[in-house]
Amino acid sequence: MRGTSVIPAKPLYEGKAKSVYASENPDELIVVFRNDMTAFNGVKHDQFTDKGRLNATASEFFMKMLEAEGIPTHHIRMSAPDTMIVRRLEMIPLEVIVRNVAAGSMTKKYPVKEGMVLDRPVVTIDYKDDERGDPMINDDLIEVLHILTADELRKVKEMALHVNKVLTRFFDKCGIRLVDFKLEFGKADGTIYLGDEISMDSMRLWDKKTGESFDKDVYRFDKGDVIAAYRNVLKRIIPDSGV
Ligand code: CDP
Repeated sequence: MRGTSVIPAKPLYEGKAKSVYASENPDELIVVFRNDMTAFNGVKHDQFTDKGRLNATASEFFMKMLEAEGIPTHHIRMSAPDTMIVRRLEMIPLEVIVRNVAAGSMTKKYPVKEGMVLDRPVVTIDYKDDERGDPMINDDLIEVLHILTADELRKVKEMALHVNKVLTRFFDKCGIRLVDFKLEFGKADGTIYLGDEISMDSMRLWDKKTGESFDKDVYRFDKGDVIAAYRNVLKRIIPDSGV
């Protein structure tokens, strides 16, 4: 037993930082945010006490915020501080990345300096396939590989930019710059939902004044105490969370 949900012994799916279990309700799944932290496609791997709870708390907070803004998400409720009950989706194998400032792979692939503010938000999409190194994909390929129809892709991009507007506005008030982030989507009953997570693992967050990182880059590039950084984000976004 965990909270109000019985967690089966075996997960249906084990990701790098989350495990997904079947629920008694066939339309729902149980997602446990684990304390594992990985980077560079799993080459770097560690465990940090509390990390699962911190990311689950942030993810719940943002999913609720986005629902209130009219964006359908898979979040249903929390059954424990690190466990989210979600709507079962047929996941779309795409990583939809929204960038406001150049950083990470963008600065490796293109002649642009880290920190350059982009003229407008840019959506880039990777095909989710670890063995192929998550290659970047384009609209034509997404259609001919029957991953999404043109209309569905338009909807996904529109939702990603809407999420960016809501999150950028919110983080700005917390003194944080939303540099970039990754979203994953899925379908249920013909509707596209935001799935996966929105956490410090999936966003780049920089202090507006100092440029300090408060996200997974702290771990990727050994910039300091990653749990202190994650806690710092939660204190700013949910001051009464008591983390
Ligand atoms: O992080 P990296 O430089 O490898 O890739 P990126 O394309 O620059 O990542 C853009 C944003 O998406 C960052 O906030 C990453 O943390 C996030 N991301 C993610 O959450 N999961 C991935 N598999 C790839 C990127």
